[in-house]
Amino acid sequence: FEVDLLILNGTIVSPSDLIHAPASDIAIKDGKILCVGALQGLFAAKRVIDAKGGYVTPGGIDSHVHLSQQNSIGAVGDKFESGTRSAIAGGTTTVICFAFQAKTDESVLPVVEEYHKKAAGFSYCDYAFHMILTNPTRSIVEQELPILVEQGITSVKLYMTYDALKLGDRQILDVMIAARALGMTTMVHAENADMIALITEQLYEQGKTDPYYHAISRPKISEDEATYRAISMAQLIDAPILLVHISSAVAAKHIKDAQTKLLPIHAETCPQYLYLLSEKLHGENFEGAKHVCSPPLRDSMADLDALWDGIANGTFTILSSDHAPFVFDSPMGKKLGLKDGVSRFTAIPNGLPGIETRMPLLYKGVQAGRISIQKFVEVACANPARLYGLRDKGSIAPGYDADVVIWYKDNDTDFKLFALKNEMLHHNIDYTPFEDMEFGNWPKYTIIRGNVVWARDEGGILGTKTDGQFIRRGKAGLRQPRNKFVNEWIPQYRGRVPNNHE
Ligand code: URP
Ligand code: ZN
Ligand code: ZN
Ligand code: ZN
Repeated sequence: FEVDLLILNGTIVSPSDLIHAPASDIAIKDGKILCVGALQGLFAAKRVIDAKGGYVTPGGIDSHVHLSQQNSIGAVGDKFESGTRSAIAGGTTTVICFAFQAKTDESVLPVVEEYHKKAAGFSYCDYAFHMILTNPTRSIVEQELPILVEQGITSVKLYMTYDALKLGDRQILDVMIAARALGMTTMVHAENADMIALITEQLYEQGKTDPYYHAISRPKISEDEATYRAISMAQLIDAPILLVHISSAVAAKHIKDAQTKLLPIHAETCPQYLYLLSEKLHGENFEGAKHVCSPPLRDSMADLDALWDGIANGTFTILSSDHAPFVFDSPMGKKLGLKDGVSRFTAIPNGLPGIETRMPLLYKGVQAGRISIQKFVEVACANPARLYGLRDKGSIAPGYDADVVIWYKDNDTDFKLFALKNEMLHHNIDYTPFEDMEFGNWPKYTIIRGNVVWARDEGGILGTKTDGQFIRRGKAGLRQPRNKFVNEWIPQYRGRVPNNHE
């Protein structure tokens, strides 16, 4: 019996276990994992890869990625082609990107079509969509969200901040009711818009408009308050939510407390909040703008430590990149914030590139002893698949898609520690916020549905932009509604109490 690919001699990692050689061989056929075990001599294979002592993990799933997205300010510098090329070079095999409803869009169904056109035939890896709702009209909430679910789009993102995007609390509650009834996950960008508006106005009056003041304008307390408010709204509705890109230790504490009460609250953090501080915003020649993102980088090592602890102790369900890449030296990029030599931090497009560095940066946390390799797999591969209903992904087990990353053996003489340079990356951006950071491992092979698409020592990118497929997602598979309400009132959707979660 012949299989397509055999991966031998690695150490397979799941969120709970390590499977060691000689029981860790993986046979792959027709894009799926056929079996795992001591397989040498049992199968012929078209191709054999020796994983000799390295970890073998599920493909990375980056569930927070902005590609081909026209934002309120500027345009992201990576379209699907360059963004997903960068993804596979960093061990990511599936991305969940945002389809973006502008305030003026009265229907989101054409928005979905538009994003399908941007992605189909231009993606090196598999992809799915979340829908950003900036104008959740009654007809969208009642008629269109059920259609999105049928189309495999089972999550929405809502903003509590940014004038062009933000919703009021009542709008958020209405979306949460619908999302709960439909089995969708509501992602929330939690920052208090009015606190930020007040501080920004006064900073501008004082002439404090350099990139650094972007961080001053968005203090941790604005994230803490909005996070707690989002949790309270989710509790009122009994709706599962995911708090995106958490950067503050107090916000993380609110989340942990909610989880301890068994509320269906999930959370995400990103590598920039584990490694970078707001001092980066003080660069010469407007280079601080390279590090402008929201929430902003925070100011102390204690903040970084608290977020690493939140990964280790389970507060964070997932680690995503929030790849929101803007070219620095471009009139559609970060330089929008510099006019006639004067900086205006409010005009800088927000976000950092990081799709390729996400997995290697998290792996550094394993090497530093901050998290286990099992936790690495949990937050970067398995949980994003379970949380967002990617039913065939996130696990090296029979029947799953054969999306696999093979790492170098740690401290192997094969792998030379190196300092990252932006030229090494495969995105379309003229900088990386992680320039000169040292890496002690990197994906050696990235495999998508059995095809080797990245081989670091054998030509680099081997896949093509037509390899990726759209993945229809199912309903969420992690903590769900409990049918527990704050009093006798039960929220109704479309005039009735939903019954599909009883
Ligand atoms: O600064 C950021 N994170 N920009 C991207 C959009 C978002 O809010 O996730
Ligand atoms: Zn956001
Ligand atoms: Zn984002
Ligand atoms: Zn290359």
